[in-house]
Amino acid sequence: MMQAGAQLRRLMFSMSTLEELGEVLSARSNFRENLRTALWSLMGTVPVSRGALLLHDARRRTLTLEVARGVTLSPGLQVPMPPPVARALCRLRRPVRAASPPPAVSRLVRGSPLFGAMAAALVIPLRFKAELVGVIAVGEKYTGAPYGAADDELIMVMANYIAIGIHNQELLRHLESANTKLRRKVAENRRLYRDLEGIYADTVRALGAAIDAKDPYTRGHSDRVARIAVAVARALGLPEAEVNALRIASHLHDVGKIAVDTGILQKPGRLSDQEMTQIHRHPTVSYDILSNIAFPYPDVALIARHHHERIDGAGYPDRLGSEALIPGIRIIAIADSFDAMTSDRPYRPALDLEEAIRRIREGVGVQFDPAATRAFLAVLRDEVSGSAPDPAIVPGLTRHFPAAEVAERLAGIVTELDTFAARP
Ligand SMILES: [Fe+2]
Repeated sequence: MMQAGAQLRRLMFSMSTLEELGEVLSARSNFRENLRTALWSLMGTVPVSRGALLLHDARRRTLTLEVARGVTLSPGLQVPMPPPVARALCRLRRPVRAASPPPAVSRLVRGSPLFGAMAAALVIPLRFKAELVGVIAVGEKYTGAPYGAADDELIMVMANYIAIGIHNQELLRHLESANTKLRRKVAENRRLYRDLEGIYADTVRALGAAIDAKDPYTRGHSDRVARIAVAVARALGLPEAEVNALRIASHLHDVGKIAVDTGILQKPGRLSDQEMTQIHRHPTVSYDILSNIAFPYPDVALIARHHHERIDGAGYPDRLGSEALIPGIRIIAIADSFDAMTSDRPYRPALDLEEAIRRIREGVGVQFDPAATRAFLAVLRDEVSGSAPDPAIVPGLTRHFPAAEVAERLAGIVTELDTFAARP
């Protein structure tokens, strides 16, 4: 619980820093100041006390120390950077452990007095497309814990972000003597910044995985809910901003489970009233956490708060009825329930697909919104019958099912629901 909590806090911190970093790195202000902010942000996210940022000059074949913190090295210090090593570092796309570097880059990491002097533990490539723009080196973590895969993932999201910024700043610096071609490149890079979606998606997915990691039964749950919800939202023709909000909310809807005892989440038997009350708090906690983050799309926190509401008003935490539920909520409710039904849970094994479909059908107009259910079942029908080019639901199923029979059953229910909707 402690570990998942710390990881969450870290990811949340990095999400807000990324946004600020974007503004700083695309500003025309003092270049070195911007690099310092970038390095500080990355160090604060890990967190570490020693770090240095070096820029790569491909023509001079050197790395030059620009800014450092917690180490007694002066800016301007240089490290030779032979082109094959720069290319190898670029191709790695992950931080290098200074204690065990891959052979292609070991000459740089082991042979350079700079990394030794600062007791670097990680050497992180900063790359823009196939070009090495610089390197960040950091020491051991504050906690003394070893670096793991989750650290690597988070660090690379930030490093890629910083690299785009450096590349853009360098172009800006050369802009004085610019021609139109260069101006076009700067504009292209600025667009890259405005398009934060990729970086957001990575961070949000990492955050969702951290939530699921708390409970082995929910591993992969957030990711599957997001895939299902997005497919249904697209089928219903929701605007792209609402689809993106729903994707983020789906990854993060259960973040409030961080406040629920792991013992309760994994309890195999019946829950007491008191335990149930604890479980029922998680959407409100999700809301409290997420409403502090400035997402680029509206209603993310709201969708997470209401993912357990029902259209008959018997859900929780606010017992909202049908009218109060925006489309994103109606969709996530069905995606979340379906994935819970078809996954193993501490108190029962996964239901087979036919049984899950029967329960979903039974819930129409009571628990689930008819239009969202119809769209969901139609997407599932196309996937089961093999006519969907990019299936979102079926790849998440673990139990075998008779495809032809299930497809026929689904087609029948979809027609039934069409009649239901057409009724005056
Ligand atoms: Fe939930």
